[in-house]
Amino acid sequence: MENIQQMILEYSDKINPSAQNSAIILAAGHGKRIKSSVSKMLHKIWGVPTAERVHKSAFVGLDNPNIVMVVGIKAEDVIKTVGKKLQTVFAYQEFQNGTGDAVKHGLKPLIEAGFDGVVYIFPGDMGLINPETVKKFKEDFERLDCDMLVLTGFFEGDYRKNYYGRIVRVPEKDKFGKSSGSDCGSVIEILEQKDILNLDDNKPYEVEYKGRVYSLTKEELLRINEFNTGVYAIKFKPLVEHIGEITSDNVQSEIYITDLIGIFNKHGLTVRAVSPEDKNVVIGFNVKSVLKEMESIARQKAYDRLKDIIEIDDPDDFFIADEVIEQILEMDKKGIPLDIRIGKGVYIGKDVKLNYGVELKKNVYVDGNVIFGRKVVVWENALLSTYPHQTFKIGDNVEILWGDIIKGNVEIGDNSRIESSVNMTGSDEFPLRIGKNVLIKGTSYLFGTTVEDDVHIEHSVLIRKKVERVLRKDGTVRKVRFYLPMPEGIDSVSDLNES
Ligand code: UD1
Ligand code: MG
Repeated sequence: MENIQQMILEYSDKINPSAQNSAIILAAGHGKRIKSSVSKMLHKIWGVPTAERVHKSAFVGLDNPNIVMVVGIKAEDVIKTVGKKLQTVFAYQEFQNGTGDAVKHGLKPLIEAGFDGVVYIFPGDMGLINPETVKKFKEDFERLDCDMLVLTGFFEGDYRKNYYGRIVRVPEKDKFGKSSGSDCGSVIEILEQKDILNLDDNKPYEVEYKGRVYSLTKEELLRINEFNTGVYAIKFKPLVEHIGEITSDNVQSEIYITDLIGIFNKHGLTVRAVSPEDKNVVIGFNVKSVLKEMESIARQKAYDRLKDIIEIDDPDDFFIADEVIEQILEMDKKGIPLDIRIGKGVYIGKDVKLNYGVELKKNVYVDGNVIFGRKVVVWENALLSTYPHQTFKIGDNVEILWGDIIKGNVEIGDNSRIESSVNMTGSDEFPLRIGKNVLIKGTSYLFGTTVEDDVHIEHSVLIRKKVERVLRKDGTVRKVRFYLPMPEGIDSVSDLNES
């Protein structure tokens, strides 16, 4: 506990009291049903942990808000993953007493800092939310003139499998059959599925709204397909004033933030609800299969953004990080054809810089600061990578053949060709420098070596060497072939007895 408070201090930035918006991201729960020792909030979607996706969407969509991340179970992991971010602080909810209790914890640093604006609440497990949806929701809130706005979705399929909270709206007629008039369709409250299931089968459920009583059967409530996504916009003052009125009088004995809707209505405050155009953005996952579904939705989305700009061999089997997708879209704006081709199973990490005419064949894996020149071709199963602080620069027209493994602090000059199964590494201290027009033939091993222009190396092992460009009498460059270092440890090696 002490440890966590210290970590929170270390990783929290400052609240800006004059910001117009703040977001509270609820990430204290564990998600038992995900069946993993990794926090649900840290499961990745399209390469990025869910909690980080929600954070980014809120930060960009709300235009530099304060962000309070409420952490609890696996707090250390969640804090470390999100990291120290601008105007972002962490709040610790030791016991998971419900979403309303989590919001209370999230409000503390905002109250302390004297914030007074609009609070947006997000569940930390909403991995497909994006900045556009958040921005639209914020604009809706500003346009609709209400005290609280709920983001809702519409459930498709068997209503008995709908585990979300239901949005209860005013029906056409009240309990006595009188028309509800202009109140019709107003949001009355949110009821959790578990609490609806707990209702009496034969007794209608009655609820009051603006002095009139409405009656709904249990079946009617369960069949409501409009559900609560768990995203809300709420004015700070009434939120702080009324959050204490929430009780834990429900089947889960938890403090539900959803109770605030009914409470706001009782106080004559206005609550409305809107739904995003793209129904996929609001999916939250509790089980592995839904996470998989979300991943394939994310992949489909990535494919749709790229399919008419570059060639992707298999829409169901590739990974290109969002950052690289943005880069490709920017390049496309310049109007020069990209001619980039991505084979099946290719992986491209977020820091990679592609270039015109780059072709990555089947299963090529590129991660780290790898900078491609124009028309670089990488053949099947090659792996190119760096540590985060290193750079790997590839010149124009370079060819990297089958199964090469090239890593670290590396430069390869224009028009060079690295043939199959070559293994090359450059370290911080011993960089690997390959000149222009170099040919490195199969199965060579190079570490921390410099090779000058035009040299041809064949089947060699070069460790921390310099290979010079030496001209022969006939004007050709001398080749280096079968260069092998002196063996070491000969004493430990002997022939096996043949008996
Ligand atoms: C909640 C909503 C439900 C909605 C659904 C959308 C309530 C009472 N219900 O239900 O109406 O349809 O989300 O997905 O709000 N959390 C904390 N601390 C807690 C409890 C939860 O931080 O004490 C976090 C969880 O980590 C999660 C989020 O709040 O990120 C939502 O909690 P969860 O338990 O998943 O709520 P649901 O039952 O899904
Ligand atoms: Mg949930």
